Amino acid sequence: MYETLNEINDEVKKCTKCNLCKNRTNTVFGVGNENADIMLIGEGPGADEDREGEPFVGKAGKLMNQAFQGLGISREKIYIANIVKCRPPNNRNPEKEEATACLNYLRNQVVLVKPKIIVLLGSVALKNILGDNYGITASRGKWIEKRGILYMPTFHPAALLRDDSKKIDFWNDLELVKAKSKEKNLLM
Ligand code: URA
Ligand code: SF4
Repeated sequence: MYETLNEINDEVKKCTKCNLCKNRTNTVFGVGNENADIMLIGEGPGADEDREGEPFVGKAGKLMNQAFQGLGISREKIYIANIVKCRPPNNRNPEKEEATACLNYLRNQVVLVKPKIIVLLGSVALKNILGDNYGITASRGKWIEKRGILYMPTFHPAALLRDDSKKIDFWNDLELVKAKSKEKNLLM
């Protein structure tokens, strides 16, 4: 077991458990408040994240930041991580074996951060965390409680860039997160 997030990150930095290690510039471990009540889980680094070593710093991330800012949830108070820590070539989805190889790091991040709410950004996060029987279209916008954590699946911000009509659903889902956080007096 790990005692600190830094310990996990030290292992991630030198990890060669899957083929994604071959093309990475930087590993992208996660960022934010280590005691966050709200955690966001994305898919994996894109080109900008691979270059900078930080999640959601590219175009999709900027759109997501705007949404959070608009809602009054600050990026510094939450914690953000991805299913895989190394960039999949050409931004393809991570393969099952890559996600499986990497998931133990994320599970340990969750154990240490102890979030009350986890926002699952897109289908890859949803299926890898809650199971393949969940689909994003049917599941988004609905709370799912498992082992004391409330999960809110919603669209991946990159999907909003491809399809403007998804923005309203994304916004409404985040409004639910905000309302629940207020109700429970969570950090945001
Ligand atoms: N998309 C993701 O899923 N994660 C990132 O960190 C950036 C883009
Ligand atoms: Fe290791 Fe995860 Fe990177 Fe694969 S994606 S090499 S499992 S850190």
